Amino acid sequence: MGTIAKRKVMPKSRAGAGAHEHDVRDLGLAAAGKKRIEWADRQMPVLRRIRERFSKEQPLKGQRLGACLHITCETANLLRALKAGGAEVFCCASNPLSTQDDVAAALVAEFGIPTYAIHNEDRDTYYSHLRAVLDRHPTITMDDGADLVSLLHTEYKDSAEEVFASMEETTTGVIRLRAMEKDHALKIPVVAVNDAQTKHLFDNRYGTGQSTLDGIIRATGVLIAGSIVVVGGYGYCGRGIASRARGLGADVIVTEVDPIRALEAAMDGFRVMKMIDAAKVGDIFVTATGDKHVLAAQHFTAMKDGAILCNSGHFDVEIDMAYLTDAAKSVDHDVNKNVDAYHLTNGRTLYVLGQGRLVNLACAEGHPAQVMDMSFATQALASEWVAKGEQLPAKVHNVPLEIENDVAAVKLAAMGIKIDTLTAQQKKYLESWESGT
Ligand SMILES: NC(=O)c1ccc[n+]([C@@H]2O[C@H](COP(=O)([O-])OP(=O)(O)OC[C@H]3O[C@@H](n4cnc5c(N)ncnc54)[C@H](O)[C@@H]3O)[C@@H](O)[C@H]2O)c1
Repeated sequence: MGTIAKRKVMPKSRAGAGAHEHDVRDLGLAAAGKKRIEWADRQMPVLRRIRERFSKEQPLKGQRLGACLHITCETANLLRALKAGGAEVFCCASNPLSTQDDVAAALVAEFGIPTYAIHNEDRDTYYSHLRAVLDRHPTITMDDGADLVSLLHTEYKDSAEEVFASMEETTTGVIRLRAMEKDHALKIPVVAVNDAQTKHLFDNRYGTGQSTLDGIIRATGVLIAGSIVVVGGYGYCGRGIASRARGLGADVIVTEVDPIRALEAAMDGFRVMKMIDAAKVGDIFVTATGDKHVLAAQHFTAMKDGAILCNSGHFDVEIDMAYLTDAAKSVDHDVNKNVDAYHLTNGRTLYVLGQGRLVNLACAEGHPAQVMDMSFATQALASEWVAKGEQLPAKVHNVPLEIENDVAAVKLAAMGIKIDTLTAQQKKYLESWESGT
Protein backbone atom coordinates (compact mmCIF):
# COMPACT_ATOMS: atom_id res chain seq x y z
CA MET A 1 0.00 0.00 0.00
CA GLY A 2 1.21 3.55 -0.68
CA THR A 3 1.69 6.29 1.89
CA ILE A 4 -1.27 7.19 4.06
CA ALA A 5 -2.42 10.58 2.91
CA LYS A 6 -2.18 13.38 5.46
CA ARG A 7 -4.94 13.93 7.99
CA LYS A 8 -7.81 15.82 6.51
CA VAL A 9 -7.73 19.58 7.13
CA MET A 10 -10.32 22.06 5.97
CA PRO A 11 -8.76 23.86 3.04
CA LYS A 12 -8.29 27.60 2.79
CA SER A 13 -9.83 29.20 -0.27
CA ARG A 14 -7.33 29.64 -3.08
CA ALA A 15 -9.79 30.68 -5.72
CA GLY A 16 -8.15 31.70 -8.91
CA ALA A 17 -4.69 31.36 -7.36
CA GLY A 18 -2.91 32.79 -10.36
CA ALA A 19 -4.84 30.57 -12.74
CA HIS A 20 -6.80 31.78 -15.76
CA GLU A 21 -10.56 31.72 -15.30
CA HIS A 22 -11.25 29.60 -18.35
CA ASP A 23 -10.13 28.41 -21.75
CA VAL A 24 -13.09 27.54 -23.94
CA ARG A 25 -13.78 27.94 -27.64
CA ASP A 26 -16.45 30.66 -27.64
CA LEU A 27 -18.39 32.13 -24.74
CA GLY A 28 -21.02 33.18 -27.28
CA LEU A 29 -22.21 29.55 -27.30
CA ALA A 30 -23.21 29.73 -23.63
CA ALA A 31 -26.95 30.31 -24.10
CA ALA A 32 -27.27 27.28 -26.38
CA GLY A 33 -25.25 25.19 -23.95
CA LYS A 34 -27.43 26.25 -21.01
CA LYS A 35 -30.54 25.10 -22.85
CA ARG A 36 -29.09 21.66 -23.49
CA ILE A 37 -27.80 21.34 -19.90
CA GLU A 38 -31.28 22.15 -18.60
CA TRP A 39 -32.83 19.67 -21.03
CA ALA A 40 -30.51 16.92 -19.71
CA ASP A 41 -31.34 18.01 -16.15
CA ARG A 42 -35.00 17.14 -16.76
CA GLN A 43 -33.90 13.54 -17.29
CA MET A 44 -31.63 13.38 -14.26
CA PRO A 45 -34.04 13.22 -11.30
CA VAL A 46 -31.66 11.51 -8.88
CA LEU A 47 -28.90 14.06 -9.39
CA ARG A 48 -31.44 16.89 -9.21
CA ARG A 49 -32.65 15.65 -5.86
CA ILE A 50 -29.06 15.49 -4.62
CA ARG A 51 -28.46 19.04 -5.88
CA GLU A 52 -31.48 20.31 -3.96
CA ARG A 53 -30.36 18.61 -0.74
CA PHE A 54 -26.74 19.72 -1.26
CA SER A 55 -27.78 23.34 -1.61
CA LYS A 56 -29.43 23.19 1.83
CA GLU A 57 -26.85 21.07 3.63
CA GLN A 58 -23.63 22.30 1.97
CA PRO A 59 -21.68 19.06 2.57
CA LEU A 60 -18.83 20.16 0.30
CA LYS A 61 -18.41 23.62 1.77
CA GLY A 62 -14.80 24.75 1.65
CA GLN A 63 -13.67 22.02 -0.72
CA ARG A 64 -11.92 22.75 -4.02
CA LEU A 65 -13.06 20.17 -6.49
CA GLY A 66 -11.06 19.70 -9.69
CA ALA A 67 -12.79 17.50 -12.25
CA CYS A 68 -11.31 15.97 -15.40
CA LEU A 69 -14.37 14.54 -17.14
CA HIS A 70 -15.99 14.49 -20.57
CA ILE A 71 -17.42 18.01 -20.84
CA THR A 72 -21.01 17.17 -21.75
CA CYS A 73 -24.46 18.34 -20.62
CA GLU A 74 -24.66 15.51 -18.08
CA THR A 75 -21.27 16.36 -16.59
CA ALA A 76 -22.39 19.97 -16.34
CA ASN A 77 -25.27 18.84 -14.14
CA LEU A 78 -22.89 16.90 -11.90
CA LEU A 79 -20.71 19.99 -11.56
CA ARG A 80 -23.76 22.11 -10.73
CA ALA A 81 -24.69 19.67 -7.95
CA LEU A 82 -21.16 19.76 -6.52
CA LYS A 83 -21.15 23.55 -6.62
CA ALA A 84 -24.57 23.65 -4.97
CA GLY A 85 -23.01 21.52 -2.22
CA GLY A 86 -20.64 24.40 -1.40
CA ALA A 87 -17.53 23.30 -3.32
CA GLU A 88 -15.45 25.59 -5.46
CA VAL A 89 -15.59 23.62 -8.72
CA PHE A 90 -13.35 23.79 -11.80
CA CYS A 91 -12.89 21.35 -14.63
CA CYS A 92 -11.09 20.23 -17.77
CA ALA A 93 -11.77 17.61 -20.42
CA SER A 94 -10.79 13.96 -20.04
CA ASN A 95 -10.58 13.49 -23.80
CA PRO A 96 -9.68 16.03 -26.53
CA LEU A 97 -12.62 15.05 -28.71
CA SER A 98 -15.44 14.70 -26.20
CA THR A 99 -15.87 18.37 -25.26
CA GLN A 100 -19.14 20.01 -26.24
CA ASP A 101 -18.05 23.61 -26.77
CA ASP A 102 -21.47 25.07 -25.98
CA VAL A 103 -21.51 23.24 -22.64
CA ALA A 104 -17.98 24.43 -21.82
CA ALA A 105 -19.09 28.01 -22.56
CA ALA A 106 -22.23 27.68 -20.44
CA LEU A 107 -20.27 26.27 -17.50
CA VAL A 108 -18.18 29.45 -17.47
CA ALA A 109 -20.73 32.09 -18.39
CA GLU A 110 -23.94 30.69 -16.94
CA PHE A 111 -22.82 28.59 -13.99
CA GLY A 112 -19.59 30.34 -12.92
CA ILE A 113 -17.47 27.18 -13.17
CA PRO A 114 -13.91 27.77 -14.49
CA THR A 115 -13.58 25.40 -17.43
CA TYR A 116 -10.57 24.49 -19.56
CA ALA A 117 -11.75 22.43 -22.51
CA ILE A 118 -11.91 22.93 -26.26
CA HIS A 119 -13.24 20.34 -28.68
CA ASN A 120 -10.40 18.84 -30.75
CA GLU A 121 -7.68 20.50 -28.69
CA ASP A 122 -4.17 19.25 -29.41
CA ARG A 123 -2.15 17.20 -26.94
CA ASP A 124 -0.26 20.20 -25.54
CA THR A 125 -3.45 22.16 -24.95
CA TYR A 126 -5.09 19.09 -23.41
CA TYR A 127 -2.25 18.80 -20.89
CA SER A 128 -2.11 22.55 -20.26
CA HIS A 129 -5.79 22.26 -19.28
CA LEU A 130 -5.08 19.45 -16.84
CA ARG A 131 -2.35 21.62 -15.35
CA ALA A 132 -4.73 24.59 -15.12
CA VAL A 133 -6.99 22.45 -12.92
CA LEU A 134 -4.13 21.28 -10.70
CA ASP A 135 -2.79 24.85 -10.46
CA ARG A 136 -5.99 25.67 -8.58
CA HIS A 137 -4.94 23.27 -5.82
CA PRO A 138 -7.90 20.93 -5.60
CA THR A 139 -8.65 19.07 -2.38
CA ILE A 140 -10.79 16.50 -4.18
CA THR A 141 -10.17 15.42 -7.78
CA MET A 142 -12.40 13.55 -10.18
CA ASP A 143 -10.97 11.63 -13.12
CA ASP A 144 -12.25 9.70 -16.11
CA GLY A 145 -9.13 7.74 -17.05
CA ALA A 146 -6.81 8.73 -14.16
CA ASP A 147 -4.99 11.53 -16.00
CA LEU A 148 -5.14 13.99 -13.07
CA VAL A 149 -4.04 11.37 -10.57
CA SER A 150 -1.23 10.41 -12.89
CA LEU A 151 0.03 14.03 -13.01
CA LEU A 152 -0.32 14.22 -9.22
CA HIS A 153 2.17 11.39 -9.00
CA THR A 154 4.65 12.87 -11.47
CA GLU A 155 4.84 16.55 -12.39
CA TYR A 156 2.54 17.68 -9.53
CA LYS A 157 3.94 15.40 -6.80
CA ASP A 158 4.15 18.33 -4.37
CA SER A 159 0.41 19.00 -4.69
CA ALA A 160 -0.59 15.38 -4.03
CA GLU A 161 -0.74 15.83 -0.30
CA GLU A 162 -3.31 18.61 -0.63
CA VAL A 163 -5.67 16.13 -2.30
CA PHE A 164 -7.40 14.03 0.31
CA ALA A 165 -9.37 11.88 -2.12
CA SER A 166 -9.99 11.31 -5.78
CA MET A 167 -12.86 9.68 -7.69
CA GLU A 168 -12.42 7.51 -10.77
CA GLU A 169 -15.19 7.19 -13.32
CA THR A 170 -14.04 4.56 -15.79
CA THR A 171 -12.77 0.96 -16.03
CA THR A 172 -9.45 1.91 -17.62
CA GLY A 173 -8.75 4.46 -14.87
CA VAL A 174 -9.51 1.94 -12.13
CA ILE A 175 -7.17 -0.58 -13.79
CA ARG A 176 -4.38 2.02 -13.86
CA LEU A 177 -5.00 2.90 -10.21
CA ARG A 178 -5.07 -0.70 -9.02
CA ALA A 179 -1.75 -1.22 -10.82
CA MET A 180 -0.35 1.81 -8.95
CA GLU A 181 -1.66 0.43 -5.66
CA LYS A 182 -0.05 -2.95 -6.36
CA ASP A 183 3.29 -1.25 -7.05
CA HIS A 184 2.96 0.70 -3.75
CA ALA A 185 2.97 3.87 -5.85
CA LEU A 186 -0.48 5.26 -5.03
CA LYS A 187 -0.19 8.25 -2.71
CA ILE A 188 -3.83 9.31 -2.40
CA PRO A 189 -7.05 7.45 -1.67
CA VAL A 190 -9.20 6.92 -4.74
CA VAL A 191 -12.85 5.88 -4.86
CA ALA A 192 -13.56 3.48 -7.74
CA VAL A 193 -16.89 4.97 -8.78
CA ASN A 194 -16.75 2.88 -11.97
CA ASP A 195 -16.92 -0.29 -9.90
CA ALA A 196 -20.20 0.69 -8.25
CA GLN A 197 -23.03 -1.37 -9.70
CA THR A 198 -25.05 1.79 -10.12
CA LYS A 199 -22.33 2.88 -12.55
CA HIS A 200 -20.93 0.06 -14.66
CA LEU A 201 -24.05 -2.15 -14.85
CA PHE A 202 -26.00 0.67 -16.43
CA ASP A 203 -23.63 3.29 -17.80
CA ASN A 204 -21.09 0.89 -19.40
CA ARG A 205 -23.78 -1.46 -20.69
CA TYR A 206 -26.83 0.57 -21.64
CA GLY A 207 -25.12 3.94 -22.01
CA THR A 208 -22.16 2.79 -24.08
CA GLY A 209 -24.34 0.29 -25.92
CA GLN A 210 -26.79 2.87 -27.20
CA SER A 211 -24.42 5.79 -27.67
CA THR A 212 -21.82 3.75 -29.55
CA LEU A 213 -24.41 2.74 -32.12
CA ASP A 214 -25.58 6.36 -32.14
CA GLY A 215 -22.00 7.51 -32.92
CA ILE A 216 -21.58 5.00 -35.76
CA ILE A 217 -24.91 5.94 -37.30
CA ARG A 218 -24.35 9.71 -36.98
CA ALA A 219 -20.90 9.48 -38.57
CA THR A 220 -21.76 7.12 -41.41
CA GLY A 221 -25.53 6.89 -41.76
CA VAL A 222 -24.98 3.20 -42.41
CA LEU A 223 -27.82 0.69 -42.12
CA ILE A 224 -27.05 -1.60 -39.21
CA ALA A 225 -29.66 -4.19 -40.21
CA GLY A 226 -27.96 -6.89 -42.24
CA SER A 227 -24.44 -5.64 -41.43
CA ILE A 228 -21.84 -7.84 -39.82
CA VAL A 229 -20.77 -6.01 -36.66
CA VAL A 230 -17.66 -7.25 -34.89
CA VAL A 231 -17.40 -6.32 -31.21
CA GLY A 232 -13.95 -6.64 -29.61
CA GLY A 233 -14.39 -7.42 -25.89
CA TYR A 234 -17.45 -8.79 -24.12
CA GLY A 235 -17.18 -6.80 -20.90
CA TYR A 236 -19.85 -4.41 -19.67
CA CYS A 237 -19.46 -2.09 -22.66
CA GLY A 238 -19.08 -4.91 -25.18
CA ARG A 239 -22.24 -6.64 -23.95
CA GLY A 240 -24.20 -3.44 -24.37
CA ILE A 241 -22.82 -2.73 -27.85
CA ALA A 242 -23.42 -6.32 -29.03
CA SER A 243 -26.98 -6.42 -27.76
CA ARG A 244 -27.87 -3.01 -29.23
CA ALA A 245 -26.32 -3.91 -32.61
CA ARG A 246 -28.32 -7.14 -32.63
CA GLY A 247 -31.44 -5.18 -31.69
CA LEU A 248 -30.94 -3.11 -34.85
CA GLY A 249 -30.69 -6.25 -36.95
CA ALA A 250 -26.94 -6.80 -37.24
CA ASP A 251 -25.25 -10.16 -37.42
CA VAL A 252 -22.92 -9.75 -34.44
CA ILE A 253 -19.55 -11.44 -33.94
CA VAL A 254 -17.75 -11.16 -30.60
CA THR A 255 -14.00 -11.55 -30.03
CA GLU A 256 -12.58 -12.16 -26.55
CA VAL A 257 -9.47 -13.28 -24.71
CA ASP A 258 -11.28 -14.38 -21.53
CA PRO A 259 -12.77 -17.88 -21.84
CA ILE A 260 -15.67 -17.20 -19.46
CA ARG A 261 -16.71 -14.02 -21.22
CA ALA A 262 -16.31 -15.74 -24.60
CA LEU A 263 -18.56 -18.55 -23.40
CA GLU A 264 -21.10 -16.06 -22.11
CA ALA A 265 -21.14 -14.35 -25.52
CA ALA A 266 -21.63 -17.71 -27.24
CA MET A 267 -24.51 -18.61 -24.90
CA ASP A 268 -26.01 -15.17 -25.43
CA GLY A 269 -26.28 -16.27 -29.05
CA PHE A 270 -23.38 -14.41 -30.67
CA ARG A 271 -20.81 -15.91 -33.02
CA VAL A 272 -17.43 -15.94 -31.25
CA MET A 273 -14.16 -16.21 -33.13
CA LYS A 274 -10.61 -14.87 -33.36
CA MET A 275 -10.27 -11.30 -34.57
CA ILE A 276 -8.18 -12.43 -37.53
CA ASP A 277 -11.14 -14.53 -38.73
CA ALA A 278 -13.69 -11.84 -37.96
CA ALA A 279 -11.51 -9.33 -39.84
CA LYS A 280 -12.21 -11.11 -43.11
CA VAL A 281 -15.99 -10.85 -42.84
CA GLY A 282 -16.87 -7.81 -40.72
CA ASP A 283 -18.51 -4.66 -42.09
CA ILE A 284 -18.22 -2.64 -38.88
CA PHE A 285 -15.65 -3.17 -36.13
CA VAL A 286 -16.02 -1.76 -32.61
CA THR A 287 -13.44 -2.25 -29.87
CA ALA A 288 -14.30 -1.92 -26.16
CA THR A 289 -11.59 -3.78 -24.29
CA GLY A 290 -9.39 -1.25 -22.47
CA ASP A 291 -6.54 -3.06 -24.23
CA LYS A 292 -4.16 -1.93 -27.00
CA HIS A 293 -3.89 -2.97 -30.67
CA VAL A 294 -7.02 -5.10 -30.66
CA LEU A 295 -7.18 -4.10 -34.32
CA ALA A 296 -3.66 -4.20 -35.73
CA ALA A 297 -1.60 -4.75 -38.90
CA GLN A 298 -2.70 -8.32 -39.66
CA HIS A 299 -6.36 -7.38 -39.23
CA PHE A 300 -6.20 -4.28 -41.47
CA THR A 301 -4.70 -6.37 -44.25
CA ALA A 302 -7.45 -8.97 -43.97
CA MET A 303 -10.38 -6.54 -43.88
CA LYS A 304 -12.85 -6.04 -46.71
CA ASP A 305 -12.81 -2.90 -48.81
CA GLY A 306 -15.03 -0.30 -47.12
CA ALA A 307 -14.87 -1.75 -43.61
CA ILE A 308 -15.71 0.74 -40.86
CA LEU A 309 -13.50 0.82 -37.75
CA CYS A 310 -14.21 2.50 -34.45
CA ASN A 311 -13.40 2.29 -30.77
CA SER A 312 -15.45 2.76 -27.62
CA GLY A 313 -12.73 1.91 -25.12
CA HIS A 314 -11.24 4.73 -23.10
CA PHE A 315 -7.93 5.37 -24.87
CA ASP A 316 -7.23 5.67 -28.59
CA VAL A 317 -4.87 2.69 -28.50
CA GLU A 318 -7.33 -0.10 -29.27
CA ILE A 319 -6.94 0.47 -33.02
CA ASP A 320 -3.25 0.70 -33.97
CA MET A 321 -3.65 4.11 -35.58
CA ALA A 322 0.09 4.76 -35.77
CA TYR A 323 0.61 1.65 -37.91
CA LEU A 324 -2.45 2.35 -40.04
CA THR A 325 -1.34 5.92 -40.70
CA ASP A 326 2.14 4.75 -41.64
CA ALA A 327 1.01 1.84 -43.78
CA ALA A 328 -1.68 3.71 -45.69
CA LYS A 329 -0.82 4.88 -49.20
CA SER A 330 -2.86 8.00 -48.49
CA VAL A 331 -5.46 9.31 -46.07
CA ASP A 332 -8.51 11.46 -46.87
CA HIS A 333 -9.73 13.27 -43.79
CA ASP A 334 -13.38 14.01 -43.12
CA VAL A 335 -14.79 12.22 -46.17
CA ASN A 336 -17.90 12.50 -44.04
CA LYS A 337 -17.85 14.38 -40.73
CA ASN A 338 -15.64 12.40 -38.30
CA VAL A 339 -14.79 9.78 -40.95
CA ASP A 340 -11.24 9.39 -42.29
CA ALA A 341 -10.51 7.13 -45.27
CA TYR A 342 -7.28 5.10 -45.15
CA HIS A 343 -6.30 3.89 -48.62
CA LEU A 344 -4.18 0.76 -48.26
CA THR A 345 -1.54 -0.54 -50.64
CA ASN A 346 -3.72 -3.61 -51.32
CA GLY A 347 -6.18 -1.28 -53.02
CA ARG A 348 -8.77 -1.40 -50.22
CA THR A 349 -10.04 1.51 -48.17
CA LEU A 350 -10.80 1.38 -44.45
CA TYR A 351 -12.89 4.07 -42.77
CA VAL A 352 -11.95 5.13 -39.23
CA LEU A 353 -14.44 7.03 -37.09
CA GLY A 354 -13.51 9.78 -34.62
CA GLN A 355 -9.76 9.22 -35.10
CA GLY A 356 -10.03 5.97 -33.15
CA ARG A 357 -11.15 7.82 -30.02
CA LEU A 358 -14.32 7.02 -28.05
CA VAL A 359 -16.82 6.92 -30.89
CA ASN A 360 -19.84 7.62 -28.72
CA LEU A 361 -18.33 10.90 -27.56
CA ALA A 362 -16.33 11.87 -30.64
CA CYS A 363 -19.17 11.25 -33.12
CA ALA A 364 -22.25 11.53 -30.89
CA GLU A 365 -23.05 13.12 -27.54
CA GLY A 366 -22.06 10.35 -25.15
CA HIS A 367 -24.44 8.55 -22.89
CA PRO A 368 -28.07 9.50 -22.49
CA ALA A 369 -28.79 11.66 -19.46
CA GLN A 370 -31.02 9.03 -17.83
CA VAL A 371 -28.07 6.69 -17.41
CA MET A 372 -25.54 9.36 -16.45
CA ASP A 373 -28.03 10.35 -13.75
CA MET A 374 -27.05 7.19 -11.87
CA SER A 375 -23.31 7.38 -12.53
CA PHE A 376 -23.11 11.00 -11.50
CA ALA A 377 -25.45 10.61 -8.52
CA THR A 378 -22.97 7.97 -7.36
CA GLN A 379 -20.08 10.43 -8.00
CA ALA A 380 -21.82 13.21 -6.05
CA LEU A 381 -22.67 11.00 -3.07
CA ALA A 382 -19.17 9.50 -3.04
CA SER A 383 -17.75 13.05 -2.92
CA GLU A 384 -19.97 13.83 0.05
CA TRP A 385 -18.84 10.59 1.70
CA VAL A 386 -15.14 11.45 1.39
CA ALA A 387 -15.67 15.09 2.37
CA LYS A 388 -17.62 14.26 5.53
CA GLY A 389 -15.88 11.07 6.61
CA GLU A 390 -12.56 10.18 8.20
CA GLN A 391 -9.43 10.48 6.08
CA LEU A 392 -9.20 7.31 3.98
CA PRO A 393 -5.93 5.42 3.55
CA ALA A 394 -4.12 5.76 0.22
CA LYS A 395 -5.61 2.87 -1.72
CA VAL A 396 -8.46 2.16 -4.11
CA HIS A 397 -11.79 2.15 -2.24
CA ASN A 398 -15.20 0.89 -3.25
CA VAL A 399 -18.27 3.08 -3.07
CA PRO A 400 -20.19 2.11 0.10
CA LEU A 401 -23.14 -0.18 -0.62
CA GLU A 402 -25.58 2.20 1.11
CA ILE A 403 -24.80 4.82 -1.55
CA GLU A 404 -25.47 2.33 -4.34
CA ASN A 405 -28.74 1.21 -2.77
CA ASP A 406 -29.78 4.80 -2.22
CA VAL A 407 -29.12 5.74 -5.86
CA ALA A 408 -30.99 2.68 -7.17
CA ALA A 409 -33.97 3.28 -4.85
CA VAL A 410 -34.34 6.93 -5.88
CA LYS A 411 -33.99 6.01 -9.57
CA LEU A 412 -36.70 3.36 -9.24
CA ALA A 413 -38.96 5.86 -7.48
CA ALA A 414 -38.35 8.39 -10.26
CA MET A 415 -39.31 5.72 -12.81
CA GLY A 416 -42.52 5.03 -10.84
CA ILE A 417 -41.45 1.47 -10.06
CA LYS A 418 -42.26 -0.09 -6.69
CA ILE A 419 -40.60 -3.27 -5.44
CA ASP A 420 -41.30 -5.72 -2.62
CA THR A 421 -39.48 -5.65 0.70
CA LEU A 422 -38.49 -8.65 2.78
CA THR A 423 -40.86 -9.62 5.58
CA ALA A 424 -39.26 -10.22 8.99
CA GLN A 425 -39.83 -13.94 8.45
CA GLN A 426 -38.14 -13.91 5.02
CA LYS A 427 -35.21 -11.94 6.38
CA LYS A 428 -34.72 -14.47 9.18
CA TYR A 429 -35.01 -17.34 6.69
CA LEU A 430 -32.42 -15.87 4.35
CA GLU A 431 -30.00 -15.22 7.20
CA SER A 432 -30.29 -18.66 8.80
CA TRP A 433 -28.50 -21.83 7.83
CA GLU A 434 -30.49 -24.29 9.93
CA SER A 435 -33.62 -24.53 7.80
CA GLY A 436 -33.32 -26.73 4.71
CA THR A 437 -35.71 -29.03 2.93
N1 LIG B 1 -17.28 4.76 -24.44
C1 LIG B 1 -17.63 5.06 -23.21
O1 LIG B 1 -18.37 6.01 -22.94
C2 LIG B 1 -17.16 4.19 -22.10
C3 LIG B 1 -17.94 4.01 -20.95
C4 LIG B 1 -17.48 3.14 -19.95
C5 LIG B 1 -16.25 2.50 -20.09
N2 LIG B 1 -15.50 2.74 -21.22
C6 LIG B 1 -14.19 2.09 -21.46
O2 LIG B 1 -14.43 0.92 -22.25
C7 LIG B 1 -13.42 -0.06 -21.99
C8 LIG B 1 -14.10 -1.36 -21.57
O3 LIG B 1 -14.80 -1.16 -20.36
P1 LIG B 1 -15.63 -2.35 -19.69
O4 LIG B 1 -16.27 -1.78 -18.46
O5 LIG B 1 -16.45 -3.05 -20.70
O6 LIG B 1 -14.40 -3.32 -19.25
P2 LIG B 1 -14.45 -4.85 -18.90
O7 LIG B 1 -13.19 -5.11 -18.15
O8 LIG B 1 -15.75 -5.23 -18.29
O9 LIG B 1 -14.37 -5.58 -20.33
C9 LIG B 1 -13.28 -5.59 -21.19
C10 LIG B 1 -13.28 -6.94 -21.91
O10 LIG B 1 -12.34 -6.90 -22.98
C11 LIG B 1 -11.68 -8.14 -23.02
N3 LIG B 1 -10.41 -8.00 -23.72
C12 LIG B 1 -9.22 -7.51 -23.26
N4 LIG B 1 -8.30 -7.56 -24.22
C13 LIG B 1 -8.90 -8.07 -25.33
C14 LIG B 1 -8.46 -8.36 -26.65
N5 LIG B 1 -7.21 -8.10 -27.03
N6 LIG B 1 -9.35 -8.88 -27.53
C15 LIG B 1 -10.63 -9.14 -27.16
N7 LIG B 1 -11.11 -8.89 -25.91
C16 LIG B 1 -10.24 -8.35 -25.01
C17 LIG B 1 -11.55 -8.55 -21.57
O11 LIG B 1 -11.36 -9.96 -21.46
C18 LIG B 1 -12.89 -8.09 -21.00
O12 LIG B 1 -13.86 -9.11 -21.07
C19 LIG B 1 -12.53 0.57 -20.91
O13 LIG B 1 -11.46 1.22 -21.54
C20 LIG B 1 -13.44 1.60 -20.26
O14 LIG B 1 -12.72 2.60 -19.59
C21 LIG B 1 -15.92 3.55 -22.23
